[in-house]
Amino acid sequence: MDSRRLFLAACRHERVDRPPVWLMRQAGRYLPEYQKIKARYDFMEMCRTPDLAVEISLQPWRRFGVDAVIVFSDILIPCEAMGQVLSFDEQGPHLSPLIHSEDSLKKLSLLDPEKTRFLFETLSILKRELKDKAALIGFCGSPWTTAAYMMGKANTVIKEDPKILRALLEKVTRSLIPYVQGQIDAGVDMIQIFDTWGGRLSREEYRRFSLPYIAEIIKTVDKKVPVAVYCQNSCTLIDLIAQTGCDILSIDWTLSLQEARQKIPSTMGLQGNLDPQILFQSLEDIRKSTQAMLASNARHPGYIANLGHGVMKGTPVESVKAFVETVRTI
Ligand code: CP3
Repeated sequence: MDSRRLFLAACRHERVDRPPVWLMRQAGRYLPEYQKIKARYDFMEMCRTPDLAVEISLQPWRRFGVDAVIVFSDILIPCEAMGQVLSFDEQGPHLSPLIHSEDSLKKLSLLDPEKTRFLFETLSILKRELKDKAALIGFCGSPWTTAAYMMGKANTVIKEDPKILRALLEKVTRSLIPYVQGQIDAGVDMIQIFDTWGGRLSREEYRRFSLPYIAEIIKTVDKKVPVAVYCQNSCTLIDLIAQTGCDILSIDWTLSLQEARQKIPSTMGLQGNLDPQILFQSLEDIRKSTQAMLASNARHPGYIANLGHGVMKGTPVESVKAFVETVRTI
């Protein structure tokens, strides 16, 4: 079975010979071929230039034969298309001006999909190149995680000024809907919503500030494709995330896949969840840990093998290869 069909079959809960495999942050700094391109262009230029973004997206697929290609982009691209200035340096992303008053919120516009056309174009090219050879994944940040970056101090704002936070969450949600729809229209096979900062919320806060906005996106987009939601530090929130209407839960390593399965509907898919730190151990230990993760899950319907968070900077390329090959040869 070709990789795209295998991936889609797993998303549909059909029985498969082995689980499909890909890695969050599979494109990036740990790859020498990425470093080569990065030496010549800055991060935003790489995201905005379809030929470069296509090339970087395909690098991990060519090297490891993963079953899915996630488009090279960033969850903060929509912030720029709403009017903030976005830059990246060695410390990470910088957004300005940060949103912390009604005035700065008012100045923010709703996302204009014309401003993110480069992403849709990148996806269309990837779709043409990949055909059925690999599934294509599009993504966005959750409204909460996106808003947290846009404010730069999300946790205090919840306590200080929930009114501004709510208004921002609504604006971000209304912006992410056409952004996700544009990716679906460009031909992605799955959308993953990264709620990386969701795990900082209490259950009550998650119910108020994250869950309904993710649910709104999933409910509103013309849903031809499955949606996965990733949340970091999600072990106390997993049943709530399952209420977003997502098809697949992408979990970190703080909960085993078996334990996670007991907390969610049996028709919901699971993705994950090897600790990315394990990729710094010996190849033999990596294979053992991957086999242990797969032992009771590999043939469970609705399972996609992945890490529990993104590949870390400095991860040996051989380790990623050992992880992918262990899944592919079970
Ligand atoms: O997974 C992939 O290979 C596709 C591309 C992708 C990137 N960012 C490229 C990137 C994806 C899916 C993301 C998501 C993203 N971006 C998240 C959510 C998932 C997660 O990892 O928690 C978040 C929180 C961001 C915001 C962001 N972008 C940060 C905090 C940073 C700096 C720190 C870091 O992890 O590198 C980035 C930069 C970034 N985004 C890089 C890449 C390849 C590194 C840029 C470089 O220095 O080369």
